[in-house]
This record gives sequence, C-alpha cells and structure tokens, in this order.
Amino acid sequence: MSLPVESDAVAAAIQRWENEPGGLLPLLQEVQATLGFIPPEAVPGIATAFNLSRAEVHGVISFYHDFRTSPGGRHRVQICRAEACQAVGARALERHATTLLGAGFGDTTDDGAITLEPVYCLGNCACGPSVRIDDCIHGRVNGDRLEALLAACRQPEVS
Ligand code: FES
Repeated sequence: MSLPVESDAVAAAIQRWENEPGGLLPLLQEVQATLGFIPPEAVPGIATAFNLSRAEVHGVISFYHDFRTSPGGRHRVQICRAEACQAVGARALERHATTLLGAGFGDTTDDGAITLEPVYCLGNCACGPSVRIDDCIHGRVNGDRLEALLAACRQPEVS
C-alpha cells in the first residue's frame, strides 16, 4: 500500500497529463522527479487513466533506464557502459564496483547508501571511464579512485 504522499503525487500527475496526447512519458517523469521512483502500486491507476493495460505501462517503465520502481539509495552511482568508456576499462570498473558494493546494477547497498546503475554515455567520452555520482561526473576513474568515491558516498550525512 502506498503512502499518502505517493498517492497524492501520482493523482496530481495523472490529473495533469491524462488528457494530453503523449502524456504517459511526462507523467512518469513527473512521478519519478517528485518521489524518486514510480511506485508499482501506481501502475493500475495510470493504466486506467491512459486506457492502457498494466503490462503496457510496465513496458514503458522498464524500457527507460532512468525509471526506478523502488526508492533508491542516498547516492546514485552510474557507471558508463557505452563503447568509448568500455574501450578504456569500464568493464573492469563495473566488476570492481559490484564487488566493492556487493550489489549489481539496479541494486541498492544494504546500508542504503548507494544505488548502482548503468548509463550509456555521459558526454565525457574523451575522459573515460566515466562515472556519475548524483549530479557530478567523474572522468578517468580507475579502481582506486572509484574506491575513494564510493567510500565518500558511505560517509554519514553531515547536517
Ligand atoms: S562513452 Fe562513456 S561518457 Fe561517452
């Protein structure tokens, strides 16, 4: 069962987009931006509003890598899997990250600090391997640097 804030956010987005041609995608983007994810409980209502099946809405959500269906960690770590970064060691970086975190792509670490995600080009190809942590892109990331970046993500938040 979703929390009231989630229901309100989804209801507001449905109201805003249900009569707009092509409104499904902006609706999903709005829900994701508001809540940080698209609650699975929201899918039936969205499907009804757009006269689609639940499977069709699920299909759209799963097609786009940026959509999440569960709350993520405090930090979002994305490793570029596109060709230019792979040519300079991104695959090894992926293996290093999954080993260090004990989490695969799409997973959140047990401490809730980090969600690991793939990304397909960050526009930083000349400086690969590239990693984005929240809104900051890091270039030429090697194993040691990745370790330091991930350790910083796991530091307690200072308020
Ligand atoms: S290929 Fe990785 S940033 Fe472009």
